[in-house]
Amino acid sequence: MSKKIAIIGGSGVYDLFEGAETIMVKTPYGKVENASRIKISEKEIFFLPRHGPDHSMPPHLINYRANIYALHSLEVEEIYATNAVGSIHTKIHPGDFVVPDQLIDMTKNRPLTFFDGETEIVFKDGTSKRGVVHLDYTEPYTPKLRMRYLSLAKVSSRKVHDKGVLVCTEGPRFETPAEIKMFQSFGGTLVGMTSVPEAILAREVQIAYATLCLVTNYGAGMQEEVTHAEVIEIFNKKIQVVKSIMQKIIEEK
Ligand code: HPA
Repeated sequence: MSKKIAIIGGSGVYDLFEGAETIMVKTPYGKVENASRIKISEKEIFFLPRHGPDHSMPPHLINYRANIYALHSLEVEEIYATNAVGSIHTKIHPGDFVVPDQLIDMTKNRPLTFFDGETEIVFKDGTSKRGVVHLDYTEPYTPKLRMRYLSLAKVSSRKVHDKGVLVCTEGPRFETPAEIKMFQSFGGTLVGMTSVPEAILAREVQIAYATLCLVTNYGAGMQEEVTHAEVIEIFNKKIQVVKSIMQKIIEEK
């Protein structure tokens, strides 16, 4: 049987499939009302626009635990996410795609885990975890999914970077130039606001996870100013490329 997969859309990716059925999933963290489900040749695929269908949910207020718990309860095994990001590396440019391999967490105020001492997470094979859980996070993004993204993205675009160190900030403001310089000195190459805790929570419930990042701007201080309108403009220009990559992921499953 093919794996159940989910696509989590970031800024600019709100509707991927025509004819998808909207579903409501109750979780211990609240209801998830934006998910949709579609069956394509007997495969079940879920779609979740992270910011809501009308981008009403800012990065720091997204209910990441509800979203990932919902996908866990739907027995999703692989999540293909997309993120709009800024480049903080001089060789990565707006319009480029990057499949990051590393993550630096600079968020400040988000629940980062399901393992708060009380919650028990039950896995598909019947085993469960609760209490104090320290997970290995050497590979924050699942290599197999990263490779799939890379091979498909390289067919659709000439500007795809194999690796990237994504610095996740709290937002919703963009960064200061001094913060960008600090992130560069840490080895960061991209900056975004939503990979944490999404990628971490997926790992906790044993869902494979990778993200396809579209660079929409240079980081603060590397260009005159950073605006959300610019992020959306670049994403809209590239949306057909993103959709065609997602389509291939679905077709191959
Ligand atoms: N910073 C943080 N998040 C972002 C950026 C940025 O420059 N561009 C798109 N998302």
